[in-house]
Amino acid sequence: MSATSLKAEFHLCQEIKNKIDKEAGKYPVRQAAVKSALRYCQEKHGWISEAVVRAIADYLNLRAIEVYEVATFYDMFYTQPTGRHCLRVCTNVSCMLRGAEDIVNHIRSTLNVECGGTSSDGRITLFESECLGACGGAPMMICGDQYVENITADKVDALLAELE
Ligand code: FES
Repeated sequence: MSATSLKAEFHLCQEIKNKIDKEAGKYPVRQAAVKSALRYCQEKHGWISEAVVRAIADYLNLRAIEVYEVATFYDMFYTQPTGRHCLRVCTNVSCMLRGAEDIVNHIRSTLNVECGGTSSDGRITLFESECLGACGGAPMMICGDQYVENITADKVDALLAELE
C-alpha cells in the first residue's frame, strides 16, 4: 500500500452506479452487490485498486474492508495491474494429473514470465488457479473470460499468437 494509492481518488461513473443499483435491487441488502460492483469496475478499468475498493464501499455504505475481503477472496479479481490479457491455468488435482504443470512451465518459458507476472510487452499476465470447475476438460485454463479446455503446448502457442 503506497502513500500515493492511499490518497488516490476514484469516482464511479453513472453507468456503473446504474448497474450496481440494478443488481442491488435484486437483494434485501446492498452488500449483496459487492461482487457485481467489483466485476463492473474491473471490466471498465482492468483491475481493482484501493481507490476502487473505497469508492464501491462508499457507494454501498459498507466499510472498505468488507469490499476488500471480497476482492481478495476471488481469483477473478485482480488487485494489481495486469497485462492486457490474463491467463489462469488450473493446477488443481484433475488438471495437475493431466499435465497442468507442464503447461504452466511452457507458458512461463515462452513468455519469460513467472506466475503472477506480466510479459515484458505488457500483453499477458499468467496466474495459477485452483479448480475452475471444468475438470472434465482438464487440463484447462481461462483466457480472459473464455474457458480453454484440453490444452496442449500447441494449443497454448496458437492462443498466445492470437493475443495482441
Ligand atoms: Fe482443473 Fe477442476 S481441477 S478445472
